[in-house]
Amino acid sequence: MKISILSIFPEMFEGFLTTSIIKKAILQDLAEVEIVDFRLFTKDKHNRVDAPPYGGGHGLVLLYQPIIDALKSIKTKDSYVVMMGPAGNTYDQNKVKSFSQIQHLILICGHYEGYDERILNHVDEVISIGDYILTGGELAAMVVTDSIIRLLPGVIREESHQYESFENNLLEHAQYTKPRKIDGFSVPEVLLSGHHKNIDTYRSESSIEKTFKYRKELLEKAKLSPEQEAIFKTLKANKNKEDL
Ligand code: ADE
Repeated sequence: MKISILSIFPEMFEGFLTTSIIKKAILQDLAEVEIVDFRLFTKDKHNRVDAPPYGGGHGLVLLYQPIIDALKSIKTKDSYVVMMGPAGNTYDQNKVKSFSQIQHLILICGHYEGYDERILNHVDEVISIGDYILTGGELAAMVVTDSIIRLLPGVIREESHQYESFENNLLEHAQYTKPRKIDGFSVPEVLLSGHHKNIDTYRSESSIEKTFKYRKELLEKAKLSPEQEAIFKTLKANKNKEDL
């Protein structure tokens, strides 16, 4: 898979692309990431990529021409073009999965006070990483790139995906490592028992409990086994008692 990122701040991506799992995935040719500086495409005599908005108002708006010329220089029939912006569809793990199937994903990083709306005629989708405003799309593009690359075959062990958060709308179960006891806090006994069936049961319960505590709305969408359904019912009943 190839991800092309259109940005006027290529230096922001340096650490991201040369560290840890993302670096390894690129070096092993499991993913290709290209940063395209669209300032290099501007036809403005002062090298500008933005201008004041028609109709007045504060701030500067990104110009159509440099972004679209940069886009045309890399776009193929297999490309899917995404504009990063707070007004888009909210990014979630289902979107990560569908994006990870795309051959060539192009992410455009907006900046300043916005972009010329006509750019959207060349865009397949606008994506927001949450209901808050960043200074630009670069951090959002890194979030999207990171979440996709870790799903590509060979990047991390297949088993790692099995229990991770958002699989089947559940958060991942609690995890512990050495030492067995620290500052008076102990590891749940069952995890030290070596009894795999009991450990699986504990983890399944822990996953439901954590989802109930932090993201209850996800549980309504989850497909639960009869055992998990029973745990969910008990948690709901206990909560109702507490609320009375
Ligand atoms: N650019 C600015 N804010 C953003 C957000 N929340 N998501 C994606 N791109 C952005």
